[in-house]
Amino acid sequence: RPRVLSGIQPTAESFHLGNFLGAVRQWVDMQETHDAFYFIADLHAITVNPSAADLRRRTRVSAAQLFGAGLDPERSTLFVQSQVREHSELAWILMCNTGMGEAARMTQFKDKSAKYGESSAGVGLFTYPILQAADILMYQADFVPVGADQKQHLELTRDLAQRFNSRYGQTFNLPAPFIPKEVEKITDLQDPLAKMSKSSSSPQGLLEVLEEPGPLRKKVMRAVTDTGSEVVADPENKPGVTNLLRIQSVLSGTPIPELEARYAGLGYGAFKKDVAEVVVEAFAPIRERTEKLLADEAELDRLLAVGAARASAVARETMEAVRDRVGFLPKL
Ligand code: TYM
Repeated sequence: RPRVLSGIQPTAESFHLGNFLGAVRQWVDMQETHDAFYFIADLHAITVNPSAADLRRRTRVSAAQLFGAGLDPERSTLFVQSQVREHSELAWILMCNTGMGEAARMTQFKDKSAKYGESSAGVGLFTYPILQAADILMYQADFVPVGADQKQHLELTRDLAQRFNSRYGQTFNLPAPFIPKEVEKITDLQDPLAKMSKSSSSPQGLLEVLEEPGPLRKKVMRAVTDTGSEVVADPENKPGVTNLLRIQSVLSGTPIPELEARYAGLGYGAFKKDVAEVVVEAFAPIRERTEKLLADEAELDRLLAVGAARASAVARETMEAVRDRVGFLPKL
């Protein structure tokens, strides 16, 4: 079985529709056909210094949501990144094999640091993609299911793997991104050219997995649509309608042309009502299961410990080879 690996940050109480379609759904599907490793990227989350209480809470809510969305602890290995210490160690070694210019080209750093001003942004924000490369290479992953915003980080990962392999000898497998076209970028409901994200312009643009049906429906009904009244996919001229069509198509398993035919002559109102329903139907059961899982924190922590133990076994093996190749003395 090919191996798949991916991670998600615990940066908000709830995942949003972008994470859900761009990543979580793929994770759940791929556990059937792949040797699956998934983790909650709490080391990445501290680049923006959340409080300890927030981080703990969000890490658990993230885990509960992933299990709630259908990750099966028997079939997938789900773990918390900081519980596998090797991630930080490999990140350091890779940092020593990354050029300043190469790291400075990462556009996510430019976007994120703009908020703080480049000189007061933490160094962790700068080296973030190198930690991500360590996450991926540690497990010798074949495929990494992500949204389009992570493409550049995957390219850096491949470059670092190739460089390490040629400097120190064949050590890392070269991973490929797995980015399904129709969900590579789910956009903000209020700003249909920008990706949906936790740092979106307004909460009205964001659909959250753990939200109640009422607010979810309201947000979809108020989504920015485009001039005209036809429900047709046209990313250039109708980015708002196109985003909603993609969402409905993926969540209902109906091809876009079929949806276009269904709403011909009906206008935006009827269409949006149905989009709202498929979103509510997808999220409501996940919310219920998440709440149940959160009610028993000890059991949740136990499931994560099982995941961490399985992940650690792979990480230990990779790091033994890496330390030896680099020239570190064995610890007797
Ligand atoms: P994060 O936590 O920002 O997002 C998690 C996943 O959701 C995808 N995504 C989207 N997909 C489509 N449309 C959107 N609007 C949208 N918003 C988010 C992201 O592409 C991602 O797949 N750096 C990563 C976490 C990470 C990681 C890794 C991922 C750390 N180490 C190793 C893969 C492999 C991040 O911040 O994702």
